[in-house]
Amino acid sequence: MPRIAPSLMCSNLLHLQKDIEDLDRAGADIFHIDVMDGHFVPNLALNLEVVRQIKTVTKTPVDVHLMVDNPELYLRSIREMNIEYASFHIEVAKHPLRLIRDIKAGGTKAGIALNPCTGIGDLPYMFEGLDYILLMTVEPGFVGQRFVSGVLEKISALKKLMHGHNVDVPIEVDGNISLETAKRCIERGASILVAGTSSIFKVDKDLYSACVEFKCGITNSALPHPRQIL
Ligand code: DX5
Ligand code: ZN
Repeated sequence: MPRIAPSLMCSNLLHLQKDIEDLDRAGADIFHIDVMDGHFVPNLALNLEVVRQIKTVTKTPVDVHLMVDNPELYLRSIREMNIEYASFHIEVAKHPLRLIRDIKAGGTKAGIALNPCTGIGDLPYMFEGLDYILLMTVEPGFVGQRFVSGVLEKISALKKLMHGHNVDVPIEVDGNISLETAKRCIERGASILVAGTSSIFKVDKDLYSACVEFKCGITNSALPHPRQIL
């Protein structure tokens, strides 16, 4: 069953707690939290102190996406905060197996993230430790970018590659995931959809309804009757 991971960097930080409460009511499965260092990507999003505070207002698992040059510097905090999922970028990992091992040692599920133009050829060497794989469907660092349709083929190729190695870990997709692009990714094997400004953080719809609608859309389930919407 596909899972939705609202991307909290898209939230209006002035009412972040209310957004989290609305998203929890709407059935968010995971909260995707982008942490950037201004070097790996020319932007800063949320930081680990905000993550610490988010963890105090929700029980929903948190998925920290480390868009940073030195992910090893963040592992101690991730361990202390009992973060459920953490991914780092293959493009910066000198010793990915050690990073995966260190993330998992703290009880966190370890993911590896690939930029749109990064190939999947090296992944089989990391398969045995990996808990999930994050495929960027936009160049990382900013919201509101255009979906890189070439990644669709990468999702299918990754599914096939995993099958060939008897591995089956979730594929998460991140960037311009609308209902339309989500369905195309799900068809090819993605199962965790990062929901940002293209699906639920929209100016013309309240967050709760947008999230309910998106979740029903990707799981092909009926919209709850208006009376059921609190
Ligand atoms: C971009 C981030 C995404 C982003 C998604 O680098 O990784 O999580 O917040 O936002 P949209 O849906 O606007 O692409
Ligand atoms: Zn992200």
